[in-house]
Amino acid sequence: MNKSYLAERVVNLKPSGIRKFFDIVATMKDVISLGIGEPDFVTPDPIVQAGIRSLQAGETHYTSNFGMFELREAVSAHLQGLHGIEYDPATEVVITVGVSEALYLSMSAILNPGEEVIIPTPCFVSYQAEVIMAGGVPVEVPTFVEDEFLIRPDALEAAITPRTKAILIGYPNNPTGAVATRAALLEVARIAEKYDLVVVSDELYDQLIYGVAHVCFPTLPEMRSRTILLGGFSKNYAMTGWRIGYASGPADLIKGLVRIHQYTIMSAPTTAQSAAIQALQVGKSHVDGMRAEYDRRRRLIVSGLNQLGLPTFEPHGAFYAFPNIAVTGMDDETFAQKLLEEERVAVVPGSAFGPGGEGFVRCSYATAYEKIEEALRRMEKFMHRHG
Ligand SMILES: Cc1ncc(COP(=O)(O)O)c(C=O)c1O
Repeated sequence: MNKSYLAERVVNLKPSGIRKFFDIVATMKDVISLGIGEPDFVTPDPIVQAGIRSLQAGETHYTSNFGMFELREAVSAHLQGLHGIEYDPATEVVITVGVSEALYLSMSAILNPGEEVIIPTPCFVSYQAEVIMAGGVPVEVPTFVEDEFLIRPDALEAAITPRTKAILIGYPNNPTGAVATRAALLEVARIAEKYDLVVVSDELYDQLIYGVAHVCFPTLPEMRSRTILLGGFSKNYAMTGWRIGYASGPADLIKGLVRIHQYTIMSAPTTAQSAAIQALQVGKSHVDGMRAEYDRRRRLIVSGLNQLGLPTFEPHGAFYAFPNIAVTGMDDETFAQKLLEEERVAVVPGSAFGPGGEGFVRCSYATAYEKIEEALRRMEKFMHRHG
């Protein structure tokens, strides 16, 4: 294709560091993958059945642009029950094609050309691209393991310019597994208020939490009116393939998101919306079961990696461990490549998640316990040679 047909901002988008790596993995046999960022569980059966019933009942049409009212009511009740925050299902919730679309909508709705969004890194690989696609400028602020990957208020404040429009945060964090403390989020809130910024809070993993409390950002004092809360079903309910999520916030902001959503997507998949209602109604015990299994694997992988001499921060959320691999003398890309070639274990180089991820690799424990045990045995051999 003639490159000149493409817009500059598209040509300049970097391909995801994860994809590049997994194209190589796909060509290899006998690989144990700790690289996958999605649950290994299939969607719990009652949720699947609700999707099937919806199709059989002839629910094959568009829904309201906002999404089915029943689902918006269920999301609203869920957020009230889980986090004690109220959103009006009529005007303050929009159902989206995953948090991916909700991120796209949020950035497109709030950014004028050249406005800046501060993004603490390491972070989910789409954040910077979403800002660029919306005509904005991502401003990366690294976080550090010695701060448990929480945002340094002075670094955040130093990144603010007259063009700063928003802060985009994601806790529980992909790739570090960090869960933000109330104190750390209160600092973000203080700065957001001082400089009158929007906060987009991606809380996709809000139910995958181990032994700590998750603080829902808009519940902090004065934050509801300036926050777009993003959430979804992909990780908590093992529903990545259904492509369903939501954004909630004050009506004027959500109205802006829906304006773009109605012209790009029209409405989220109807089958997935019906399944999502069921997830919120009966999903809790399934989430509890999956969380308990993730926790068992989390303890195995974190202690295993530490024993191999790879210092690993204790993650309290999501399903990722983020060991520091500096002791091997390799950079994270080389480490991941050699580990794959020599021992057939796939991990993701931390630098794929932005500055702050360098010198680390992401190991997902959304894979069977026995596979993690085997991956650790293979990594032990690797570390004997390279440790
Ligand atoms: C932090 C974070 N946000 C958003 C997404 C996208 O999720 P969804 O499937 O809801 O589009 C992911 C997927 O890995 C993620 O890790």
